Amino acid sequence: MGQQHLGIIGLGVMGFNLGLNAEGKGFPVAGFDASAEKTRQVAAQVAGKNFAVAHSLRELADALERPRRILIMVPAGAPVDSVLGELRPLLDPDDIVIDGGNSHFKDTERRARDLEHAGLRFFGMGVSGGEEGALRGPSLMPGGHEESYRHLEPLLTRMAAQVADGPCCAYIGPGGSGHYVKMVHNGIEYGILELIAETYGILKNVLGLSTTEIRDIFAAWSDSDLNSFLLEITALVLAKIDPETGQPLVELILDEAEQKGTGKWTAQDAMDLGVAIPTLASAVEARILSSQKQDRLAASEILRGPARRFAGDRKPWIARLRDAYQLAVITCYAQGFEQLYVASHEYDYRLRLAEIARIWKGGCIIRARMLDAVQAAFTAQPQLKNLMLSPVFSRAANELSESLREVVRTVVDLGAPGLAFAASLGYIDSYRQRRLPANLLQALRDCFGAHTYRRVDRDGVFHTDWSR
Ligand code: 6PG
Repeated sequence: MGQQHLGIIGLGVMGFNLGLNAEGKGFPVAGFDASAEKTRQVAAQVAGKNFAVAHSLRELADALERPRRILIMVPAGAPVDSVLGELRPLLDPDDIVIDGGNSHFKDTERRARDLEHAGLRFFGMGVSGGEEGALRGPSLMPGGHEESYRHLEPLLTRMAAQVADGPCCAYIGPGGSGHYVKMVHNGIEYGILELIAETYGILKNVLGLSTTEIRDIFAAWSDSDLNSFLLEITALVLAKIDPETGQPLVELILDEAEQKGTGKWTAQDAMDLGVAIPTLASAVEARILSSQKQDRLAASEILRGPARRFAGDRKPWIARLRDAYQLAVITCYAQGFEQLYVASHEYDYRLRLAEIARIWKGGCIIRARMLDAVQAAFTAQPQLKNLMLSPVFSRAANELSESLREVVRTVVDLGAPGLAFAASLGYIDSYRQRRLPANLLQALRDCFGAHTYRRVDRDGVFHTDWSR
């Protein structure tokens, strides 16, 4: 019987770095990759470490202590099913298989059901933090068979990033909950990335600032209570000069955003659940619009915007933009956590929202100082549906909303793109209404399709013949 504590299948940069991370924390690792070339490279890189390199899945299975812990780090989709198909006959009941990729949570639910039938334990684990995080300490979101988590906890909590109140890893819930939480993490990531991009676009194209001046603004925001990993790397990226041209490298990058699908899945599932996440969804749509470069080039010749230019005082306006950014980011967290709240009930995940905020405070891409307040809000009110109703965030929303309104007003007036900023403001303005114009919408539905409506003054369901 083998002695290695953790097996890893897929030794690409994420799998390899997670392996090095585990080995560095004292957990013997065995790794396998389908590519003979990759296997050779890894074998050379791990010489002298307690990191065995297997040449087949059988060799990997034999190298592991029982119950086996096997982490699959291959691209989401068919490759995961193919690995599981090959691995399954080599495993024994109670062995634990973890999928650490960005798999769709419904695939994870299906795989968990299939493997549980064979007595195996399956975990879908969100891993956030990119290559660096995988090596130094990611945020880990494992969901699956609760009882088996005790076999993973010592390893995963040591591998994870550490913050003042503990490791950035916690048992999330049953089934596909770990991948669900990671998916929503990515939805929030999309929203914040789009807000940063729009802020840069506004500073550059509306205010006419240079890339260096914009860098200084992001660096200053990052050094304040607004601090977040994404603001930090924005300042870093904007400072990078292309050695060949001497220009800021960012200005030479093609403006077509790509995506692997987790933001889109977040929006799709929010629609299924009936949760409004306009800022997160608009971020997916902004990426789609950006990717249609040829269409935009054609449209730019035909469709005109206003000829007006920014006329105000830049400094106070940038302070308002900061407030607007802060409130728009709050709406990203509010929308994402409301989706988690609803999904938790709908899918019976029993999510602990304060704990999720806590494990996002380190290691992951959306780590930010603001998450302390998010964690505190859900600790004080575990059944809080929308963050903006908590004392701290409602106060912030009320204080910052005039700035968000001013920024959206200016962006609209000057014809600058600001889908995510506008979506955030529209979200707040709709959410805070006692009465929305949906009464007319209901009347119209009933008029053209006899869809019926309810009344404010009596119970029941009504239909009217509107033509008489
Ligand atoms: C993380 C990231 C990561 C994600 C990339 C790319 O938390 O480490 O969310 O898992 O895959 O950010 O996502 P897109 O290609 O869809 O932008």
